[in-house]
Order: sequence, then C-alpha cells, then structure tokens
Amino acid sequence: MSTIEVTGGISLQGEIEIQGSKNAVLPILAACLLGEGVCVIENCPRIKDVSDTLEIMRGLGCRIRREDRTVSVDASGVDRCEISGEEAARIRSSILFLGALLGRMKKAVLPLPGGCAIGERPIDQHIAALRQLGARFYLEEKVAADAWDLKGGRVELALPSVGATENAILASVLAPGETLIVRAAREPEIDELCAFLRRRGARIRRTAGGDIRIVGVKRLGSACYRMRPDRIVAGTYLLAATATRGQIFVKDFPHHELDALLAVLRDMGVTVGYEENGIRLMAKMPLRALPYLETAPYPGFPTDLQSPLMAVLCRARGESCICETIFENRFRTVDQLQKMGAKIRTDGRCAVMKGIPALIPASLTAPDLRGGAALVIAALQANGSSVIRNTRYIERGYEDICRDLSALGARITYRG
Ligand code: EPZ
Repeated sequence: MSTIEVTGGISLQGEIEIQGSKNAVLPILAACLLGEGVCVIENCPRIKDVSDTLEIMRGLGCRIRREDRTVSVDASGVDRCEISGEEAARIRSSILFLGALLGRMKKAVLPLPGGCAIGERPIDQHIAALRQLGARFYLEEKVAADAWDLKGGRVELALPSVGATENAILASVLAPGETLIVRAAREPEIDELCAFLRRRGARIRRTAGGDIRIVGVKRLGSACYRMRPDRIVAGTYLLAATATRGQIFVKDFPHHELDALLAVLRDMGVTVGYEENGIRLMAKMPLRALPYLETAPYPGFPTDLQSPLMAVLCRARGESCICETIFENRFRTVDQLQKMGAKIRTDGRCAVMKGIPALIPASLTAPDLRGGAALVIAALQANGSSVIRNTRYIERGYEDICRDLSALGARITYRG
C-alpha cells in the first residue's frame, strides 16, 4: 500500500500551474455520450476518477484514445445502456451517466449509488428532476429508467444539487422542447459543462437569475474543448502555502472562482489577490482565527476546502469554528489532526479549533479525498516527518500532490 511521507517545517515558495478540473471533466465526459460526434478533451487531469470513468465509457461502446492529457471520445458505437455494479462501485459520479444515457439511449440501468466516506449521497433530486422531463423509473433495487417520451419541461430542484443539475442538463439538451432548471447549482463546473455543450451545438445558457434554460436540439456535433484549472486543487495549494507561511503564485487561474476562499484568507491576515492571470499569496505572519465560518453552495465557501482549511486553523491564533452545512460526515480528519496535537472538538455539524503553536508529526490515515489533502497540509506544518496512508483517496482527485508541492519546495514523497 503506497504512503506519502512529508517532512514539515518548510515554507512553500514559487509558482505553480493547476491541473484540469476533476468536477468539470466528469460531467463533460458523460456529455460525450450525447451523439455520434468525436469529442477531444484537452488538459484532462490524469486522475483515478477520470480513468475509472473512461473504463465505464469503453464498456458502453465508446472508442477512447488517451495521449497524456488529451482524451478523444468516439461515441458512435455506444450500444449499451446499463452500467454494472462493479463498474459503478468504483466511482460515485457514475450517476452522471443516468442523464447522459437517457438523453442518448432513452434508457438507463445503473446500480443504486451507495453512500461514501463523506455522507449518504442520496439521489432523490436527480430522480425528481428526470421525472419532470418524462423519465419513468421502474425498479426499486436499481436506478432503472426509460424515457421514450423525454421532453423539455420545468425542473424545480428542492436544493441546488450539482449532480442533479448536471443530470437534468444531460437529459434535456436533446429532448424536444424547452427546459428551465430552477434553483440550478451555480458551481463553475456547471457553466463549464454548458460551455462544452454549446461548443457541440446545444442551445443552453444560464439566465440572469441563475436558472438554466435549454432549447432541445436534434443532434450534437463534434467538439474540441480545453478544461479549465481545478479550483479545489488551486484552493488546496493556496491553503498549503498559508499553513507554511509561504509565498506562491498560482498561474493561469480564472478570476473569481475562489472569491470565497480569498475572502477567508484575508480575514486570517493573509495577503492574497488576483494578479494578471493568476492568484498571488503571501502569508508571512501569524494567522488570525476564524470566529465562525460555514460551508455553502457556490458562491459560498466550498465544502471541498473545509478539511484543508481546518488543517490550517489548527495553528491560527485563537479559537475558530467551522460548520459543515453540505455533507453530514465530513469531519473525519478531526481524529487524525488530534493525533498531531490539534485542539479540535466537534459538536454536530460544527468543529471548534483552538490554535496551538506547533503540530506533532504522526502516522496518519487519509479518510477521504479532501481529508487526505488536509492531512498533507497538516504534515507540512509539523516539525519532523509524518506518514500518510490510503493515498489512493488523494489520487482520485490530485494528479500528483507530491510533484506539485515539491515544486514549491516541500519535502514530500510517495513511498511504496
Ligand atoms: C459534487 O457532488 C462534487 N462532486 C463534490 O465534490 C462537491 O462536494 C459537491 O458537488 C458540492 O459542491 C462532483 O462534482 C463529482 P450535490 P454532488 O448533489 O453532485 C444533497 C470532491 O471532493 N443531495 O450538490 O454529489 C447531498 O446529500 C467531491 O471533489 C440530496 O439530498 O453534490 C449533499 O448534502 C466531494 N439529494 C448536498 O445535497 C440529491 O438528490 C450537495 O450534494 C442530491 C444531493
């Protein structure tokens, strides 16, 4: 089993480029199923979630070619509409094939997506949205639906679910008629999916009020699309630089996608801002605590950066409180940080941290993807060498966290 070894105490310095976005490329790969065209995706991150998704697509009949970070998908041969339990078990976001298969094949059969490390992950909003477009679900023990008379309509989401918004988009771009998705998620990954689909000839746009309006078209053509950088990976590295009192420049990063994080960093006393085509950060001083912060749907503070921020607040001066409002089980890093001496207590959806001067190196176990990244950030602060197990979680979303942080001066390596 591979581990990551980190020798902490070094301030991160330098420039870094960020990999393509995991949470944007996954729905875009599912969208490649919609129609017979060949799609070329550039700057596609080399991460496990992408490899697993491409395997599922091959199983459905896609011809896939991958050269480094360029993936080409020929979906003309798609002849299956069922994803097996074994395939889907590898990756939760396989649920996005529900909308894509209904849009392409008018039929879809997938296993019920289980919960995962961070929570139950229900799909009631996905099902409700697709029903509003004419899909008919006919099994209990599986996610099985047909949609022979799929047609545009008004989809009202009860909550701004990212995945449910994406599934409604994937099912409606080829459906006759007009679709309006009310209370659509506002995450940038949704707008990137829309940009990709417009590139293929879809008629889709976000209204001034934030809803998504679609007019169904008969077919989608080929397209070539370059993925934008991953905002959660960028945020992770900005937090790592903050934790080590470093100074970094994130190159080629779209402005405003990390506004909520930058505002929080400034509250902590960090000098950070958008500059030319990137983000410059300098964190040379003792950090101020955050009396209260809660995660929220975009443009609020992203839940995916909650654990990495917690690792930074362990050494901020004073008492901080973070409340996790999106997922019900996203404090699984707490006991690992406590092994390093962190003073943290949780109370329901909130965690309270009392800053301490130093973290103790330890042998750690990553509990999930972003929790694993948080432990790397904690280990970068400890005076000595820490080891992190379960690195497979981290590899789901970070191309090579050791390569990236070493480029900023960290002493961090994979072992085994
Ligand atoms: C996406 O998950 C991301 N994953 C998550 O990133 C991210 O944390 C999340 O959006 C929120 O931003 C991908 O894009 C692949 P949701 P998703 O549907 O779509 C509840 C990472 O670390 N809900 O917006 O599953 C749900 O339980 C991952 O990269 C329902 O109740 O998120 C959760 O509490 C983790 N019913 C909340 O909504 C539903 O039908 C947000 O879920 C769907 C969701």
